Amino acid sequence: MKKCYHRFARTRLIAALPCCAVFLIASAAAQQSASGLWLFSETRNDGSVLEIYHRLTQNGPHLEGTVLLAGEDLPIRNGIVTDNRLKFEVGPPENTWRCEGTLYGDNLEVTCQGSAPHAKPALVKFHRTSAEPFAVAERIEPPSLKELLGNGLAKTPPMGWNSWNHFAGQIDDATVRAIADAMGSNGMRDAGYQYVNIDDTWEGQRDAKGILRSNRKFPDMKALADYVHSKGLKLGIYSSPGPRTCANYEGSYGHEVQDAQMFAAWGIDYLKYDWCSAFRIYKDEEMRAVYQKMGEALQATGRPIVFSLCQYGKQEVWKWGGLAGGNLWRTTDDIFDSWQSMSTIGFSQGPLASYAAPGHWNDPDMLEIGNGGLSIQESRTHMSLWSMLAAPLIAGNDLRSVSPEILSVLTNRDVIAIDQDSLGKAAPRAFAKGDIEVWTRPLSGGATAIAVFNRGSRSQPFKIQWESLGISRQAKVRDLWNHKDRMVDGSPVEVAAHDVVLFRAIP
Ligand code: GLA
Repeated sequence: MKKCYHRFARTRLIAALPCCAVFLIASAAAQQSASGLWLFSETRNDGSVLEIYHRLTQNGPHLEGTVLLAGEDLPIRNGIVTDNRLKFEVGPPENTWRCEGTLYGDNLEVTCQGSAPHAKPALVKFHRTSAEPFAVAERIEPPSLKELLGNGLAKTPPMGWNSWNHFAGQIDDATVRAIADAMGSNGMRDAGYQYVNIDDTWEGQRDAKGILRSNRKFPDMKALADYVHSKGLKLGIYSSPGPRTCANYEGSYGHEVQDAQMFAAWGIDYLKYDWCSAFRIYKDEEMRAVYQKMGEALQATGRPIVFSLCQYGKQEVWKWGGLAGGNLWRTTDDIFDSWQSMSTIGFSQGPLASYAAPGHWNDPDMLEIGNGGLSIQESRTHMSLWSMLAAPLIAGNDLRSVSPEILSVLTNRDVIAIDQDSLGKAAPRAFAKGDIEVWTRPLSGGATAIAVFNRGSRSQPFKIQWESLGISRQAKVRDLWNHKDRMVDGSPVEVAAHDVVLFRAIP
């Protein structure tokens, strides 16, 4: 339930509402109308406060309104009131929550059903409030645009681990250390996974000098960085250009230089910078300048810090992310742990291929492999597709307890070598027919990676037209999941449901 609840606090609703929730809305005064502003507020065990508002307007049988989170406002849809019963929907079409409620005098009890497979009920109590939701901080003008020089980092797509997909708000110093230990001993580090990235929920309060303290889950960031470095790994952290992060923790707004310097002093090697509440201050068109501000601040520290832009692919970030100092930029909304989410995101990335290059990568979000929602075939597809896309490989599972099967997917060195190829050219889709998609990626030394994906739910034979993909009969072709060579001939490959056959062809 806690997990579900923390996921709800995420601003990206696609991943924020993957469960069934029961909301209990209680008002102080006797009310039969749902109209008003309702607040749920809870002090979390790290001392921070989670706030969720519902602004509802009832007009006879019609109910309109908005769910307000720290980093996102979500309109409710199809709201109706019949007697004391309410119904409304919230969330994007691909992940709609259907909510039903009953007014009981001062109380309004609402049950929402999300579409995610691991739906768990959560009870949330709201009260009527007159407070201004997420009061907007005074605007600070963004800098004028310039073109930042590259920082020389991320010559190949960053590889590592991030806390969010599995742990969400349940991440702390001890868990990060244990993950680093695991990565050092289970083959992940040796396969190339380098960054151990703490996502949202590490932040505490700013002190009188404006210095941001970590909260009680992370008592000493410098010591944690030292520990992670002692394992031959690097430490990443998370912040937002807005005043609040997506999970309503302190962001870097107005403190960019100070925070960058502190990150450098701690020994941080990677920053994920998430748009979140910045939308309450800046227009989307101002994003580049806002990201540039932190890009410059990081570069000014003199410490090599990979800069990861997280703004969900708005404003065609692939066209300017590098100029703002970014090494990678999210191209989509949040991924979540399902075939539908992963495959929809992954297979839509082809048109962005030309924007990937050494130092600058499209980021279709972190891996969900090993989190339980993907079969082994789907996990192979996830790993192969991200590698074909030259995407960052940021594992998002609990590496302390990973199964050998999942580990063998994450650490397949032949597949990783495709992702990390020094040419840095991402694959577009070469061919699609029915459920079959063929993607090809040029590799250094004149080699080619060829992935045959089956998006359908039945195993299928497929005859590859090698010549039309530029592969001659003399080429040496290796199947990277079966670890076998094959002939360049007319014999079909059998591709299981939701699976992939991945080849490297050497001329
Ligand atoms: C957004 C990001 C996620 C994660 C959360 C943390 O939703 O897209 O990857 O960082 O914020 O709150």
